[in-house]
Amino acid sequence: MIKQQIDRFNRLELLGGATALEKLERLSAWLGRDIYVKRDDTTPLAMGGNKLRKLEYLAADALAQGADTLVTAGATQSNHVRQTAALAAKLGLGCVALLENPTGTEDPNYLGNGNRLLLELFDAKVELVENLDNVDEQLNALADRLRSNGKKPYLVPIGGSNALGALGYVRAGLELAGQIKDSGIEFAAVVLASGSAGTHSGLALALSDVLPNLPVIGVTVSRTDEAQRPKVQGLAERTAELLGVDIPEAFNVMLWDEYFGPRYGEPNAGTLAAIKLLASQEGLLLDPVYTGKAMAGLLDGIGRQRFEDGPIIFLHTGGAPALFAYDSVFN
Ligand SMILES: Cc1ncc(COP(=O)(O)O)c(C=O)c1O
Repeated sequence: MIKQQIDRFNRLELLGGATALEKLERLSAWLGRDIYVKRDDTTPLAMGGNKLRKLEYLAADALAQGADTLVTAGATQSNHVRQTAALAAKLGLGCVALLENPTGTEDPNYLGNGNRLLLELFDAKVELVENLDNVDEQLNALADRLRSNGKKPYLVPIGGSNALGALGYVRAGLELAGQIKDSGIEFAAVVLASGSAGTHSGLALALSDVLPNLPVIGVTVSRTDEAQRPKVQGLAERTAELLGVDIPEAFNVMLWDEYFGPRYGEPNAGTLAAIKLLASQEGLLLDPVYTGKAMAGLLDGIGRQRFEDGPIIFLHTGGAPALFAYDSVFN
Protein backbone atom coordinates (compact mmCIF):
# COMPACT_ATOMS: atom_id res chain seq x y z
CA MET A 1 0.00 0.00 0.00
CA ILE A 2 1.30 3.36 -1.07
CA LYS A 3 0.06 5.11 2.07
CA GLN A 4 2.38 3.09 4.28
CA GLN A 5 5.42 3.75 2.09
CA ILE A 6 5.32 7.48 1.43
CA ASP A 7 6.20 8.57 4.97
CA ARG A 8 9.61 6.90 4.74
CA PHE A 9 10.85 9.68 2.48
CA ASN A 10 12.62 12.78 3.66
CA ARG A 11 10.49 15.88 2.97
CA LEU A 12 10.69 19.58 3.74
CA GLU A 13 7.30 20.66 5.08
CA LEU A 14 6.61 23.67 2.89
CA LEU A 15 2.87 23.40 2.23
CA GLY A 16 1.61 23.87 5.76
CA GLY A 17 -1.48 21.70 5.27
CA ALA A 18 -3.90 20.52 2.59
CA THR A 19 -4.94 22.81 -0.24
CA ALA A 20 -8.69 23.42 -0.45
CA LEU A 21 -11.16 21.40 -2.49
CA GLU A 22 -13.92 23.85 -3.31
CA LYS A 23 -17.01 24.01 -5.49
CA LEU A 24 -17.24 26.57 -8.28
CA GLU A 25 -20.82 27.64 -7.60
CA ARG A 26 -21.52 29.97 -10.51
CA LEU A 27 -19.75 27.88 -13.13
CA SER A 28 -21.54 24.75 -11.90
CA ALA A 29 -24.94 26.45 -12.14
CA TRP A 30 -24.10 27.77 -15.61
CA LEU A 31 -22.91 24.40 -16.90
CA GLY A 32 -25.57 22.32 -15.13
CA ARG A 33 -22.72 20.16 -13.84
CA ASP A 34 -20.93 20.48 -10.52
CA ILE A 35 -17.27 21.43 -10.86
CA TYR A 36 -14.87 21.37 -7.92
CA VAL A 37 -11.34 22.75 -7.87
CA LYS A 38 -8.38 21.40 -5.95
CA ARG A 39 -6.51 24.61 -5.24
CA ASP A 40 -2.84 23.73 -5.78
CA ASP A 41 -2.53 27.19 -7.29
CA THR A 42 -2.56 28.42 -3.68
CA THR A 43 0.52 26.61 -2.38
CA PRO A 44 2.28 29.10 -0.14
CA LEU A 45 5.40 30.22 -1.99
CA ALA A 46 5.89 32.99 -4.55
CA MET A 47 2.44 32.93 -6.18
CA GLY A 48 1.84 29.21 -5.74
CA GLY A 49 1.58 26.24 -8.06
CA ASN A 50 2.16 22.51 -8.28
CA LYS A 51 5.95 22.53 -8.16
CA LEU A 52 6.19 23.18 -4.43
CA ARG A 53 4.86 19.68 -3.75
CA LYS A 54 7.65 18.14 -5.83
CA LEU A 55 10.22 20.48 -4.34
CA GLU A 56 9.34 19.32 -0.82
CA TYR A 57 11.12 16.08 -1.75
CA LEU A 58 13.72 17.37 -4.20
CA ALA A 59 14.96 20.21 -1.98
CA ALA A 60 15.10 17.89 1.05
CA ASP A 61 17.38 15.66 -1.04
CA ALA A 62 19.47 18.65 -2.13
CA LEU A 63 20.01 19.73 1.48
CA ALA A 64 20.78 16.16 2.56
CA GLN A 65 23.49 16.03 -0.13
CA GLY A 66 25.00 19.31 1.07
CA ALA A 67 24.18 21.18 -2.14
CA ASP A 68 24.52 24.96 -2.26
CA THR A 69 22.97 25.61 -5.70
CA LEU A 70 19.78 24.36 -7.36
CA VAL A 71 20.21 23.90 -11.10
CA THR A 72 17.25 23.51 -13.41
CA ALA A 73 15.80 24.36 -16.82
CA GLY A 74 12.58 25.37 -18.52
CA ALA A 75 10.84 27.81 -20.81
CA THR A 76 11.33 31.56 -20.41
CA GLN A 77 7.98 31.68 -18.60
CA SER A 78 8.45 28.46 -16.64
CA ASN A 79 6.44 28.27 -13.44
CA HIS A 80 8.71 25.45 -12.35
CA VAL A 81 11.84 27.59 -12.61
CA ARG A 82 10.07 30.41 -10.76
CA GLN A 83 9.11 28.17 -7.84
CA THR A 84 12.55 26.51 -7.75
CA ALA A 85 14.28 29.91 -7.69
CA ALA A 86 11.95 31.15 -4.95
CA LEU A 87 12.64 28.10 -2.82
CA ALA A 88 16.39 28.46 -3.38
CA ALA A 89 16.10 32.03 -2.09
CA LYS A 90 14.09 30.89 0.93
CA LEU A 91 16.64 28.18 1.77
CA GLY A 92 19.67 30.43 1.20
CA LEU A 93 20.80 28.45 -1.86
CA GLY A 94 21.87 29.72 -5.25
CA CYS A 95 19.82 28.98 -8.36
CA VAL A 96 21.02 28.71 -11.95
CA ALA A 97 18.52 28.06 -14.75
CA LEU A 98 18.79 27.30 -18.44
CA LEU A 99 15.92 29.00 -20.26
CA GLU A 100 14.64 28.42 -23.79
CA ASN A 101 12.13 30.49 -25.70
CA PRO A 102 9.86 27.75 -27.09
CA THR A 103 7.84 29.85 -29.53
CA GLY A 104 10.59 32.28 -30.52
CA THR A 105 8.39 35.25 -29.67
CA GLU A 106 10.05 38.65 -29.21
CA ASP A 107 7.15 40.06 -27.21
CA PRO A 108 8.86 42.14 -24.50
CA ASN A 109 6.40 41.01 -21.86
CA TYR A 110 7.09 37.37 -22.67
CA LEU A 111 10.83 38.03 -22.45
CA GLY A 112 10.81 40.14 -19.30
CA ASN A 113 7.53 40.15 -17.40
CA GLY A 114 5.55 37.47 -15.53
CA ASN A 115 7.64 34.56 -14.26
CA ARG A 116 10.79 35.92 -15.93
CA LEU A 117 10.58 39.14 -13.92
CA LEU A 118 10.30 37.14 -10.72
CA LEU A 119 13.51 35.23 -11.48
CA GLU A 120 15.37 38.54 -11.30
CA LEU A 121 13.85 39.29 -7.89
CA PHE A 122 14.89 35.87 -6.57
CA ASP A 123 18.48 36.52 -7.79
CA ALA A 124 18.44 33.45 -10.02
CA LYS A 125 21.23 33.28 -12.60
CA VAL A 126 19.78 32.73 -16.02
CA GLU A 127 21.52 31.28 -19.09
CA LEU A 128 19.60 31.56 -22.33
CA VAL A 129 19.87 28.57 -24.66
CA GLU A 130 18.65 27.90 -28.21
CA ASN A 131 16.70 24.86 -27.09
CA LEU A 132 16.62 22.18 -24.42
CA ASP A 133 16.71 19.25 -26.81
CA ASN A 134 19.48 17.49 -24.85
CA VAL A 135 18.50 18.81 -21.47
CA ASP A 136 20.18 16.10 -19.37
CA GLU A 137 23.51 16.72 -21.10
CA GLN A 138 23.03 20.47 -20.89
CA LEU A 139 22.27 20.37 -17.17
CA ASN A 140 25.19 18.04 -16.50
CA ALA A 141 27.57 20.34 -18.39
CA LEU A 142 26.31 23.29 -16.36
CA ALA A 143 26.73 21.33 -13.12
CA ASP A 144 30.33 20.43 -14.12
CA ARG A 145 31.08 24.08 -14.72
CA LEU A 146 29.64 25.03 -11.33
CA ARG A 147 31.65 22.29 -9.61
CA SER A 148 34.85 23.53 -11.21
CA ASN A 149 34.01 26.90 -9.65
CA GLY A 150 33.75 25.30 -6.21
CA LYS A 151 29.94 25.04 -6.10
CA LYS A 152 27.87 22.06 -5.02
CA PRO A 153 25.05 21.91 -7.55
CA TYR A 154 21.89 19.79 -7.24
CA LEU A 155 20.10 18.98 -10.48
CA VAL A 156 16.34 19.49 -10.43
CA PRO A 157 14.94 17.93 -13.62
CA ILE A 158 12.60 19.85 -15.94
CA GLY A 159 9.29 20.27 -14.17
CA GLY A 160 10.70 18.52 -11.09
CA SER A 161 9.53 15.35 -12.82
CA ASN A 162 11.61 12.43 -11.66
CA ALA A 163 10.42 9.69 -9.30
CA LEU A 164 11.44 11.63 -6.19
CA GLY A 165 9.59 14.75 -7.34
CA ALA A 166 6.52 12.73 -8.34
CA LEU A 167 6.22 11.64 -4.69
CA GLY A 168 4.84 15.12 -4.09
CA TYR A 169 1.85 14.22 -6.24
CA VAL A 170 1.53 10.78 -4.72
CA ARG A 171 1.07 12.62 -1.45
CA ALA A 172 -1.33 15.06 -3.11
CA GLY A 173 -3.37 12.13 -4.43
CA LEU A 174 -3.70 10.69 -0.94
CA GLU A 175 -4.64 14.12 0.39
CA LEU A 176 -7.30 14.54 -2.31
CA ALA A 177 -8.66 11.03 -1.71
CA GLY A 178 -9.16 11.94 1.96
CA GLN A 179 -11.06 15.09 0.97
CA ILE A 180 -13.19 13.13 -1.51
CA LYS A 181 -14.06 10.52 1.10
CA ASP A 182 -14.92 13.26 3.65
CA SER A 183 -17.20 14.96 1.11
CA GLY A 184 -19.29 11.83 0.59
CA ILE A 185 -19.56 12.79 -3.10
CA GLU A 186 -19.12 10.30 -5.93
CA PHE A 187 -16.98 12.19 -8.45
CA ALA A 188 -16.93 11.34 -12.16
CA ALA A 189 -13.29 12.25 -12.82
CA VAL A 190 -10.26 14.35 -11.96
CA VAL A 191 -8.92 16.52 -14.79
CA LEU A 192 -5.44 18.06 -14.86
CA ALA A 193 -2.78 19.39 -17.22
CA SER A 194 -0.19 16.77 -18.22
CA GLY A 195 3.21 18.25 -19.14
CA SER A 196 6.51 16.88 -17.86
CA ALA A 197 4.22 14.25 -16.29
CA GLY A 198 5.23 14.20 -12.62
CA THR A 199 1.91 15.63 -11.50
CA HIS A 200 -0.12 13.21 -13.61
CA SER A 201 1.98 10.14 -12.79
CA GLY A 202 2.06 10.74 -9.04
CA LEU A 203 -1.61 11.66 -8.74
CA ALA A 204 -2.84 8.76 -10.89
CA LEU A 205 -0.61 6.30 -9.04
CA ALA A 206 -2.01 7.28 -5.63
CA LEU A 207 -5.64 7.55 -6.74
CA SER A 208 -5.57 4.21 -8.56
CA ASP A 209 -4.54 2.67 -5.24
CA VAL A 210 -7.09 4.31 -2.93
CA LEU A 211 -9.99 5.26 -5.27
CA PRO A 212 -9.63 2.73 -8.10
CA ASN A 213 -12.89 3.70 -9.84
CA LEU A 214 -12.04 7.40 -10.21
CA PRO A 215 -10.73 8.27 -13.70
CA VAL A 216 -7.74 10.65 -13.78
CA ILE A 217 -7.64 12.47 -17.12
CA GLY A 218 -4.52 14.31 -18.23
CA VAL A 219 -5.04 17.01 -20.84
CA THR A 220 -1.76 17.27 -22.72
CA VAL A 221 -0.13 20.69 -23.10
CA SER A 222 2.64 19.87 -25.56
CA ARG A 223 2.34 16.35 -26.98
CA THR A 224 0.11 13.84 -28.67
CA ASP A 225 -1.28 10.93 -26.67
CA GLU A 226 1.27 8.67 -28.36
CA ALA A 227 4.20 10.83 -27.25
CA GLN A 228 2.92 11.59 -23.75
CA ARG A 229 1.73 8.10 -22.77
CA PRO A 230 5.19 6.50 -22.29
CA LYS A 231 6.30 9.52 -20.25
CA VAL A 232 3.40 9.19 -17.80
CA GLN A 233 3.55 5.39 -17.68
CA GLY A 234 7.35 5.25 -17.34
CA LEU A 235 7.47 7.83 -14.57
CA ALA A 236 4.63 6.10 -12.70
CA GLU A 237 6.60 2.83 -12.91
CA ARG A 238 9.78 4.46 -11.61
CA THR A 239 7.82 6.15 -8.82
CA ALA A 240 6.18 2.87 -7.79
CA GLU A 241 9.62 1.26 -7.79
CA LEU A 242 11.01 4.02 -5.57
CA LEU A 243 8.08 3.49 -3.21
CA GLY A 244 8.62 -0.27 -3.30
CA VAL A 245 5.07 -1.05 -4.45
CA ASP A 246 3.52 -2.65 -7.51
CA ILE A 247 1.60 -0.48 -9.93
CA PRO A 248 -2.05 -0.89 -8.84
CA GLU A 249 -4.21 -2.91 -11.20
CA ALA A 250 -6.56 0.03 -11.66
CA PHE A 251 -3.73 2.31 -12.86
CA ASN A 252 -4.57 3.52 -16.32
CA VAL A 253 -3.06 6.44 -18.26
CA MET A 254 -5.91 8.51 -19.68
CA LEU A 255 -4.94 11.36 -21.99
CA TRP A 256 -6.88 13.91 -24.00
CA ASP A 257 -4.63 15.45 -26.63
CA GLU A 258 -7.07 17.59 -28.62
CA TYR A 259 -6.50 20.82 -26.69
CA PHE A 260 -2.79 21.68 -26.82
CA GLY A 261 -2.57 23.11 -30.32
CA PRO A 262 -0.94 24.87 -31.99
CA ARG A 263 1.99 24.00 -29.71
CA TYR A 264 3.45 24.23 -26.21
CA GLY A 265 3.36 27.77 -24.90
CA GLU A 266 0.88 29.01 -27.46
CA PRO A 267 -2.76 29.29 -26.42
CA ASN A 268 -5.65 28.62 -28.83
CA ALA A 269 -9.14 30.14 -28.93
CA GLY A 270 -10.49 27.47 -26.54
CA THR A 271 -7.68 28.19 -24.06
CA LEU A 272 -8.45 31.91 -24.04
CA ALA A 273 -12.21 31.33 -23.75
CA ALA A 274 -11.68 29.02 -20.76
CA ILE A 275 -9.42 31.56 -19.03
CA LYS A 276 -11.95 34.35 -19.62
CA LEU A 277 -14.89 32.21 -18.47
CA LEU A 278 -13.28 31.18 -15.18
CA ALA A 279 -12.06 34.71 -14.50
CA SER A 280 -15.40 36.38 -15.27
CA GLN A 281 -17.64 33.77 -13.61
CA GLU A 282 -15.53 32.82 -10.61
CA GLY A 283 -12.72 35.33 -10.18
CA LEU A 284 -10.39 32.36 -10.66
CA LEU A 285 -7.18 32.85 -12.64
CA LEU A 286 -6.03 30.12 -15.01
CA ASP A 287 -2.94 30.37 -17.22
CA PRO A 288 -2.38 30.31 -21.01
CA VAL A 289 0.11 27.40 -21.11
CA TYR A 290 -1.27 24.68 -18.81
CA THR A 291 -4.48 25.17 -16.86
CA GLY A 292 -6.27 27.14 -19.59
CA LYS A 293 -5.77 24.21 -21.94
CA ALA A 294 -6.77 21.66 -19.32
CA MET A 295 -9.94 23.59 -18.45
CA ALA A 296 -10.78 23.93 -22.15
CA GLY A 297 -10.60 20.12 -22.31
CA LEU A 298 -12.85 19.77 -19.27
CA LEU A 299 -15.46 22.15 -20.71
CA ASP A 300 -15.40 20.52 -24.13
CA GLY A 301 -15.53 17.09 -22.51
CA ILE A 302 -18.77 18.04 -20.75
CA GLY A 303 -20.24 19.32 -24.02
CA ARG A 304 -19.26 16.11 -25.80
CA GLN A 305 -20.43 13.89 -22.91
CA ARG A 306 -17.01 12.36 -22.42
CA PHE A 307 -17.56 12.02 -18.64
CA GLU A 308 -19.68 9.62 -16.60
CA ASP A 309 -22.39 11.27 -14.49
CA GLY A 310 -21.30 13.16 -11.39
CA PRO A 311 -19.28 16.17 -10.30
CA ILE A 312 -15.83 16.72 -11.78
CA ILE A 313 -12.66 17.82 -9.99
CA PHE A 314 -10.24 20.15 -11.74
CA LEU A 315 -6.71 20.12 -10.32
CA HIS A 316 -5.60 23.75 -10.51
CA THR A 317 -1.84 23.55 -10.80
CA GLY A 318 -1.22 27.34 -10.87
CA GLY A 319 0.57 29.36 -13.51
CA ALA A 320 -1.29 32.68 -13.34
CA PRO A 321 1.95 34.75 -13.19
CA ALA A 322 2.39 33.89 -16.89
CA LEU A 323 -0.75 35.91 -17.70
CA PHE A 324 1.36 39.06 -17.49
CA ALA A 325 3.62 37.68 -20.21
CA TYR A 326 0.71 36.90 -22.51
CA ASP A 327 -1.24 40.17 -22.35
CA SER A 328 -0.97 40.56 -26.14
CA VAL A 329 -3.09 37.45 -26.79
CA PHE A 330 -5.99 38.93 -24.81
CA ASN A 331 -5.91 42.31 -26.51
C1 LIG B 1 0.79 25.71 -14.05
C2 LIG B 1 1.26 24.36 -14.41
N1 LIG B 1 0.34 23.40 -14.55
C3 LIG B 1 0.69 22.14 -14.91
C4 LIG B 1 1.99 21.81 -15.13
C5 LIG B 1 2.30 20.42 -15.58
O1 LIG B 1 2.80 19.63 -14.56
P1 LIG B 1 3.81 18.48 -14.94
O2 LIG B 1 4.99 19.12 -15.58
O3 LIG B 1 4.10 17.80 -13.66
O4 LIG B 1 3.11 17.58 -15.92
C6 LIG B 1 2.99 22.76 -14.96
C7 LIG B 1 4.39 22.39 -15.23
O5 LIG B 1 5.26 23.03 -15.62
C8 LIG B 1 2.62 24.09 -14.61
O6 LIG B 1 3.53 25.05 -14.47
